[in-house]
This record gives sequence, C-alpha cells and structure tokens, in this order.
Amino acid sequence: MIKKYNVPGDFSSLTGYDSLEEYLKLKIDVHKDSDAYWAKVAERIDWFEKWTDVNKTNYHDAHIEWFTNGKLNASYNCIDRHIKNGLGEKTALIWQSNDVNVSKNVTYNELLVHVSQFANALKRSNIQKGDRVCIYMQMIPEAIVAMLACARIGAVHSVVFGAFSSDALKNRINDSECKLLITQDNGVRGTKHDIPMKENANNIADECPSLEKIVVVDRCGNDVAMQEGRDIYWHDFIKGCDTVCEPEVMDAEDPLFILYTSGSTGTPKGVLHTTGGYMVYTSHTHEIVFDHHKDHIYWCTADIGWITGHSYIVYGPLSNGVTQVIFEGVPNYPDFGRFWQIVEQHKVNIFYTAPTALRALMKEGDDFPNQYDLSSLRVLGTVGEPIKSPEWHWYFQTIGKEKCPIVDTWWQTETGGVLMSPIPGCVPTKPGSATLPLPGIEPALLDENGNKITEPNTTGFLVMTQSWPGQMRTVYGDHQRFKDTYFSQAPGNYFTGDGAFIDEDGYYWITGRVDDVLNVSGHRIGTAEVEGAIGAATGVAEAAVIGYTHDIKGEGIYAFVTLMTGVEPSDDIKTDILATVTKIIGPHAKPSVIQFCDGLPKTRSGKIMRRILKKIAQNETDDLGDISTLADPSVIDSLINK
Ligand code: WTA
Repeated sequence: MIKKYNVPGDFSSLTGYDSLEEYLKLKIDVHKDSDAYWAKVAERIDWFEKWTDVNKTNYHDAHIEWFTNGKLNASYNCIDRHIKNGLGEKTALIWQSNDVNVSKNVTYNELLVHVSQFANALKRSNIQKGDRVCIYMQMIPEAIVAMLACARIGAVHSVVFGAFSSDALKNRINDSECKLLITQDNGVRGTKHDIPMKENANNIADECPSLEKIVVVDRCGNDVAMQEGRDIYWHDFIKGCDTVCEPEVMDAEDPLFILYTSGSTGTPKGVLHTTGGYMVYTSHTHEIVFDHHKDHIYWCTADIGWITGHSYIVYGPLSNGVTQVIFEGVPNYPDFGRFWQIVEQHKVNIFYTAPTALRALMKEGDDFPNQYDLSSLRVLGTVGEPIKSPEWHWYFQTIGKEKCPIVDTWWQTETGGVLMSPIPGCVPTKPGSATLPLPGIEPALLDENGNKITEPNTTGFLVMTQSWPGQMRTVYGDHQRFKDTYFSQAPGNYFTGDGAFIDEDGYYWITGRVDDVLNVSGHRIGTAEVEGAIGAATGVAEAAVIGYTHDIKGEGIYAFVTLMTGVEPSDDIKTDILATVTKIIGPHAKPSVIQFCDGLPKTRSGKIMRRILKKIAQNETDDLGDISTLADPSVIDSLINK
C-alpha cells in the first residue's frame, strides 16, 4: 500500500489553491464550461487585441486553434509588461556560471535593452517575421536574450540542445531552413571548458544551404575559426543597433518556436508551438503548479535545449515576472553538493529538477546537502520520468525537510506545459504518481480496441479527449505526420504515446512509453535514430536497440548488434560504434551495453521483436512469452548464451 502524504502542515498556498474540496469543485466546473475557464485564464497575459473565439479545435481534423484573432507578443509579455508595472529594477535572471565564484544579475530593464538591441540586429540582418533562427548554445544569458529577441520580431526560433553533434545540428537547421545560427565559441560545463560549439557549427555550415549568418558569443575568449562575411561575434553584430525595438504584433496562432523531439520512427519531429495559447498555458501552469508568488526565487535546472527550458525557464516564469536562477554548470562540479550550494547562495524557494539528477545525487549520501542551509526551499518539482519511491523520499526528507510539497509534473514537448501534477497547497501526494490532471485537462485511458478503461489499476493508453491552449499545432512542414502520429490511433483523441493506470483515488500513474521511444536520463531518444547511427559504424550489419532499467539514468540503452560476414567482434568495433553514435546524434545517445550477436529475433515479415530483446537484456529469460511468430527461433539461444 502506497502511503499518501498530505500537504505539509507548514505550507500555505500563496496563489489561493489551498482547499482540496474547492480545487476538485473547480475542476468539475471547468469540465462543464471549459471555454469560460480558458477565457478567464487568458486574461492573465497582455493582449494587444482580444480574441474573438476561445477554442476552435477539431481533433478529427487534427486542427488545433485557440484564441482566434487575438494579438500579442511573447517578449512583450515576458519583459515590457513588468517594466510598465514598475518592476523594471527587479532581477529577472541570476546567472550562475559554472565557476562557483561567478554570477551575474540581469534586471528586467536590462533584459529589455539586450533583447531589443539584439532584435534590431536580427532585423538589420534581414531576419523577418516567420523566418527561422537556430540557437545552439549552453546556459548563458545570451541564449534567453536570443530566444526573446526572435519572439520580439516574430522570427521562429529552433533551439538545438548544446550536446547535439554537428550532424544532428545540420539536420535540424535544414529541416526548418534556418537563415541564421546563434552559437558560442565554446561551451563550459564542469571540468570541460572547450565544448566545441562553433567548431561543430563550422563542420556543417557548408551543408546548410539556407544558412546565411552565424552569430558567435565570445563566452570563453577562445580563438575559433570565423569565416569572413558569414560569421560575426555577438558584440559586433549588435554594434550601432538601437536599444528600442517595438514588439511585432503577432497573431495568437503565429508560430513562436519549433523544437525537435524524437518519435518512434523516422527523423526527429519539429514540434511547432504558436504564440497565444502557449503563453497563456505556460504562464498559468507555472503559477499554479509551483504556487509561484512574485517574491519567490525560482530555479529550474533544465537546459533551454529541451521543452522544460522553453516553458519553465523562459516563457512561463518570465511572463510571471519571476526572479530566477539559470545555471551553466553540472550537478557534480566542483562536487556533488553544487545544487544545494546554489540553493543556499541564492536562497532558492522553488526548485525544479529531474529524477535522474536526484538519483545521481542521492547515491553520494546526505553529507552534501546537509552542509547547506536549504531552509529557503518551499516547493520541489520533478519532470521527465516517474519519480520513484527512494528518490521521492530523499527529496522530501533530506532536501525538503518534510516541509515542501513535491510536484511530480507529467507532460511532453507536444503538450507545451504540465498536464498532470499535484497542486502544492491542496493535493495530497503519493510517491510515483503525478496525481491529478490540472483543471481543463481531460485524460482517458483506452484499451487496445479503443474502449475506455473504467476499472481502477488497469493500464491502458493515455489519451486526451479535449485540447488545451498549450498543445502543439503541427509537425513543422509535415502536417500529415502530425495527424498520423497523434490522431490516428484513437480518432477524436490526442494520443500521448504513454501508458498509465488510475488507482482507486483517481490518481494517475504513468507507466512509460508505449512506443519505441527511450527515456534516458529524462532525454527522449528514438530507438530508430540510435539504430540508424549504429548501423553507420564500420562493419555493422544491423542493430536493434532497447531500453533497460538503469539505476541512475532510469533507462539505459542496450544495443544488440550483428556484424557483416567476415567481421569479428572486437573492442575496436565497440569504440567505433560509440564514436559514430556521438557523431551522428550526441554523447547522450551512446548505448551503455553493446552485445554482438549472430542474428536478431524477427518475425517472418522481418519486424524485430524488441519485446524478446528486452527480456534478454533484463535477464528475464525464463519466460520469453510467445515466440511462435519468430522466423528463426534458434536465434534466441545464441542471444542468451552470449
Ligand atoms: C515522460 C518532457 C512520468 C513521458 C517534459 C513523456 C514522464 C515523455 C514525466 C516526454 C513524469 C515526462 N512522470 N513520465 N512526471 N514527465 N515523462 O517530450 O514518457 O522530453 O511522454 O517532455 O517523458 O518527454 P519530453
């Protein structure tokens, strides 16, 4: 029996969500008239012109549309609005560098100057509304300035996670035909001071026909190769540009950004989010999920290369006028106490991180957190994967001293913002459960035939029966893929790709992906992508990749590899496979285990039976299930006897 934790006695909600009865009643009211609810929520942001219709979504046509004809600007909502409200001198960003002794504060006034000047520089370089701009950076303030500057002029940013390889960067730039790339000389993380950002860009720039310019932040003062006429340093790029830039009037449904994410098949998808609904949704959820109050210091440890960074570092928090820490470094540098040292130094009230980071830190013992004063903490959040009991309890007791509610937030790149989470002031928690959907979110569980599951504790496919404002609008350049991926399995519903069950209290428990997507340290990686990359290594004939339970990463990558005839397995081939995956995708996609084998278990139609490989990888070979559809059952023995 899982213990239920009530809201800690010392905690009292600042945003008014303090009674479970009222919260549940609100959810019922919203269910009856969700348009009225979202219309009210939408008033929290500033519109240049009000919308005419709240929601014109039709799931049967894969058409998502919110706040029709509304006009606004995201950067205006994240900056100007607060200045108008007298908060110009408030600190927006506390940049904590990788170096313990270096941090820098940026006020809202300063942010406006930086963003406006950079926006004018983009315009001077002929970047216009609708043009795509790629941002390939680490966690430095310029990354956020660049995103907001794009939003200010209506350019669509596509942020590529800084650990992605040259090839991955190239594919993303080319898919959305970015005209300009913003990067930095080198990245700095932990003991590494020479992460080759500009070099990676140089390697592929000639293979990106749409790319006209590369803007380079001089983060390290390192000498990097710059191509005359194409490359320019950030400080030269903005030279002479005015520090005032009127925000572009954007339609609610004008694109705000593209963010690539992995699916079960094919190349990563360009998830497209638009302006109005996304701003409303991230701003609203950031407030209610974290019980965010204007005097709080907030810190989300995500990277802006992922959706968590977009929604809960940039657009949600900044539209709420937050003061937040942004961190360039890593949790284990200079030692495993770094997170807690930063919490103490900057008096962080709201802390949002990933279970994988907690597991890595928990393993190092309590001495690290116990050295620091963590009494400023108020709400603790997690995202990316289920938070299991050991790390939940460690987070609750050792970090939060049993005073801080834990919000286990379930959501996806596609959903734009959190769909399920406890509300800190009123929803009792259960370790491992994202508890309840937020108001206006209408999930259902379906069985294999598409019928709704009503029995408790029965796992099914998690779908959403209704839209919400933050939902993605399309796959960039491929609306058919959007339809096929999300609206074909259960017509009339959004198909999340996750499995879940509901317990007798109505709490949701996410059981993980039901497709071929891996979740490694909270990073989404498609099996097909990794298999393709391994297949490009010398001597490899074929690869099949599955996820297996991993202590720290949650899921580790296990690769079964067959070699070409005449090629003998060797450590050199393993090394080459790792190098090839790093080159094609990035180091985060490297398999933890590589097993060479003579053949892969396939059906007669040639489909790899991953289910069997998973059992072999997890040493559950006593019961392999039904293997009668295998083309060659003898393959199994050779796999197990390795
Ligand atoms: C998983 C990250 C359980 C899930 C915001 C989802 C979670 C995928 C949780 C999306 C959670 C995320 N509990 N599983 N609290 N949060 N997931 O697009 O499988 O990088 O579909 O978005 O992560 O990953 P993505």
